[in-house]
Amino acid sequence: MTNDFNTLFRSLPKNNYYHALGLPGDFHGRLLPKSSLHFAYCSWSLHWLTEAPTTALNKGAAMYSGNRKDQVYDAYLCQFGKDLGSFLDARAQELMSGGLMTLLLPTVPSFWDPQTEYTLTSDLNLLASCLVDMAIKGIIDEAKVDTFNLPYYFATPEELKTIIDNNNNYSIERFEILKNPRMPSVNVRAAFYRVVTEKLIGDHFGSEIIDELFDIYLKKLAASSVLVNTSNDKTLVTLVVLKRKAN
Ligand SMILES: C[S@@+](CC[C@H](N)C(=O)[O-])C[C@H]1O[C@@H](n2cnc3c(N)ncnc32)[C@H](O)[C@@H]1O
Repeated sequence: MTNDFNTLFRSLPKNNYYHALGLPGDFHGRLLPKSSLHFAYCSWSLHWLTEAPTTALNKGAAMYSGNRKDQVYDAYLCQFGKDLGSFLDARAQELMSGGLMTLLLPTVPSFWDPQTEYTLTSDLNLLASCLVDMAIKGIIDEAKVDTFNLPYYFATPEELKTIIDNNNNYSIERFEILKNPRMPSVNVRAAFYRVVTEKLIGDHFGSEIIDELFDIYLKKLAASSVLVNTSNDKTLVTLVVLKRKAN
């Protein structure tokens, strides 16, 4: 994963008084001095896993599991639990006693009906189906599809709460389940998934497949009576406010 920090820093408003600091590093480990933070905020980032679960589990191009309670699901949930635990432990060292931390995570309900409803995992499964289509047409190698796993996990609010409860460093001050903002059109939605996945897909399959893949994706998205109707979107966003317990 790479970020364009030059553009980010250039885009910061100039007429405010603040100091901005960029720290290279993985937020699953310590980044800042001990007890140095009054407030921490992390939005739409903790669904990224440090690694996708091992490929042997994932035969049949099911690169992402959602709404399924199987081995792949267990492996993803286990990785998510480990990664979120490391993040919480690292921030627990950096936050002062009584310091607050707000987390905003894309989440999914524990069940949705795929015949009439969808979540962002459905969108990613549709993308997986496009890779399978391309493998059937011989454009990409089937074995490569089998070994492709996206390092994301979208927890249910209940899973999230259990992991936070098991970490004894915080009290939960607020836990709110919100609706995901609707995306205005299928074109915007396809562009969104392209932005968040194209680097990973390009690294695995070669960047020359990206345009065709997302053409197929956009067509399939537009043709799906369930996915095209944003009132069927059951994706959630969970807002959590935590307080660092006295240490
Ligand atoms: C979807 S963006 C969210 C950006 C911003 N927080 C927002 O809400 O608009 C996800 C961000 O998570 C960052 N990220 C993912 N895993 C990370 C990790 N292990 N350590 C630090 N940053 C990570 C990525 O670099 C990316 O900038």
